[in-house]
Amino acid sequence: MSFDDPIDRRGTHCVKWDAMETLYGVSPDDGIAMWVADMEFQPPQCIQDAVSAMHDHGVYGYFGDESKYRAAIQWWMKNRHDWDIDPSWIFTTHGLVNGTALCVDTYTQPGDGVVLFTPVYHAFAKVIRANGREVVECDLVNDYGHYTFDFNAYDAQMTGNERMVILCSPHNPGGRVWTQSELKAVAAFAERHELIIVSDEIHQDLTFGSHKHIPTAKLSGLSERLITMTATTKTFNIAGSHSGNVIIEDPDLRERFANRMLALGISPNSFGLFMATAAYSPEGAEWVDELRGYLDGNRKIFDAGINAIPGLKSMPLEATYLAWVDFKDTGMSREEFTTRVEKHARIAVNHGPTFGSGGDTFLRFNFAAPRAQIIEAVTRMQAAFADLQ
Ligand SMILES: Cc1ncc(COP(=O)(O)O)c(C=O)c1O
Repeated sequence: MSFDDPIDRRGTHCVKWDAMETLYGVSPDDGIAMWVADMEFQPPQCIQDAVSAMHDHGVYGYFGDESKYRAAIQWWMKNRHDWDIDPSWIFTTHGLVNGTALCVDTYTQPGDGVVLFTPVYHAFAKVIRANGREVVECDLVNDYGHYTFDFNAYDAQMTGNERMVILCSPHNPGGRVWTQSELKAVAAFAERHELIIVSDEIHQDLTFGSHKHIPTAKLSGLSERLITMTATTKTFNIAGSHSGNVIIEDPDLRERFANRMLALGISPNSFGLFMATAAYSPEGAEWVDELRGYLDGNRKIFDAGINAIPGLKSMPLEATYLAWVDFKDTGMSREEFTTRVEKHARIAVNHGPTFGSGGDTFLRFNFAAPRAQIIEAVTRMQAAFADLQ
């Protein structure tokens, strides 16, 4: 199957299509689902084969002997990200929202502050609040359509109650691939305020052009305060397998995490492990490179069409397939531009304020779909805002 081939996901328990009418009032009959961060593509054949082999065997018991699975993760981190890890550093959680929750639960206490650089992936704040911790929003600076940090402001904001910072690297929704000096500044900030760093690198594989993801763990001297989270699920579009890697070098941090996993009775899901082992392979890598090229083509078409509408600005992405579009210069209220997108263009998107402070004038569009669908979405957007042309 090529990335251009449409796949009808309606009526398949697919949250992106089957929940959009309830949540956004956009009918799947003639609407376009551009919200949830999963792709309209099948994963590569190596993953399909792994699932077929499970099915052919026909027995779905507990998983044992994780050596191949761990070696596959180790191979991927070395080959794709030039990062050496030891297989014993890896924990498998039920996805990375689960991984985030486990980190918050393990390394902070109720009432502690957890720092987020906002706007940022919405589940972080949900998990922090649901665990009875306090979200500390440090606003990213929108520097002419490019998010940067302002550590002087963040230093002034700290009260001493903060224990953890969660970094989204690459950044969802701004699409930044943080540079070495930015990562060093995050590390220095964490050191100044004695914060544990949770580095969520789920979008590490989907970068564009010359932008190269740098694992936070490659910075020296950080291991005693660093937890890294990665996954196959965004990269290979297998989010339903709900599996994630939490990678911890420091033995003390590792022991605390292991105890918490034990206390909560968390053990891996066979499907996730079979799929991840197949994904992190040379065949998987080849597919990811084709995917990145295809996504880059979609990104260019989407951005050109959206930026041609006066008042709309799509943030230039360095990674991810999630376009972050600013409607501020239309002068419209949030209700008006959202209504135009949902009711006139019939596109379901993520609303900016759910990403925290700084998201008010934005909507997030997922463009990981066959190109014809992206062209159709752009055409509908141009019609919905035709009076501005
Ligand atoms: C930064 C980030 N972390 C985690 C997730 C979700 O992780 P999971 O499906 O493994 O829980 C997403 C999904 O979009 C994300 O963008």
